[in-house]
Amino acid sequence: MGGYGVSLVGHCHPKIVQAIKEQCERLLSCHSSLYNDKRAELIEKLIRILPKGLTRMFLSNSGAEAIECAIKIAVKYTGKNEFISMIRGYHGKTLGALSATWNPKYRDPFKSILVPSFKFTPFGRIDRAEDAVTDKTAAIIIEPIQGEGGVHLPPDDFLKEIRRLCDERGILLIMDEIQTGLGRTGKMWASEHWNVKPDIICISKALASGIPIGVTAAREDIMNSLSIGEHTSTFSGNPIACAAASATIDVILEEKLVERARNIGEYFKRLLLKLQDKHPIIRDVRGLGLMIGLEFRFSIHNILSEALRSGVLLLHSGRNIIRFLPPLVIEKKHLENVVDILDGILRKEERRIKTAR
Ligand SMILES: Cc1ncc(COP(=O)(O)O)c(C=O)c1O
Repeated sequence: MGGYGVSLVGHCHPKIVQAIKEQCERLLSCHSSLYNDKRAELIEKLIRILPKGLTRMFLSNSGAEAIECAIKIAVKYTGKNEFISMIRGYHGKTLGALSATWNPKYRDPFKSILVPSFKFTPFGRIDRAEDAVTDKTAAIIIEPIQGEGGVHLPPDDFLKEIRRLCDERGILLIMDEIQTGLGRTGKMWASEHWNVKPDIICISKALASGIPIGVTAAREDIMNSLSIGEHTSTFSGNPIACAAASATIDVILEEKLVERARNIGEYFKRLLLKLQDKHPIIRDVRGLGLMIGLEFRFSIHNILSEALRSGVLLLHSGRNIIRFLPPLVIEKKHLENVVDILDGILRKEERRIKTAR
């Protein structure tokens, strides 16, 4: 589970703990209307790793907040108010982010107060996205690989086509890399797998290794459309969060975790494909780097609780998909152990299903 994707560099990495301790002794809080050295340091480091040109950023405290800011700047920059989001897309649960989130389970209880100008089109169908565009469309918001929705990869040309559509129709492309970013998929940003550069990018989750932070980064002309005071938050750019995030970026680069995710991710996928050969109840193995989905032909409720009893904390997407988001520092022996445990559980499950028939 890896802390829902937060523990990218593992748990309590000594360099990050040290950075947090040092900052605690210097300054706990500093409103973003004032200069702060740790914030400046983080922004410089982010500019070095972000897609070129995304040099202006708003710092916040969560993934959903990073999305809220992206929605507001898209409206401000384009003067338009419609959005296109993807079926099975997930962007958070605050009202703006929930308006962009597809799952009816999360939306329906609050439907009456959600932003009405969000349309949902199938992930992978450029024709449907084209049909949904109007003269009022401000932005398309998309995860490069859908996480919560079940680890779905886009068809090969889809993100490129979305970029083309945005360019042709003067629409902004908001890339939600909250779950996929920072090396998780074997590239610093998952959108790099398809050579697609967004106008606005949202980052959060693993960035500060567990200290709350969100980042919305955009081109300068886009971010400048916000006037001073139009979008603020008391804790925005908190120095402890910035110190933790700055140290996290150092660790990702120093320990070459992006390459590690690619290599060890391929190894893990091979193990899971072998497991699929043995167990036909596994319908699909898919993913990139260390973001891997294992889809079953039935509910995985029993598998999750059995795994927990054996010491493996698994994350699910919906009722039949296991979503692996392990730390990028995980070792082969841990992954082999997980696969062995799953092998035993699946053998038991298959026996149970047979006798129930
Ligand atoms: C792709 C994506 N976007 C947005 C969010 C929302 O982030 P948060 O839970 O920090 O609000 C998540 C959280 O799982 C996510 O996976």
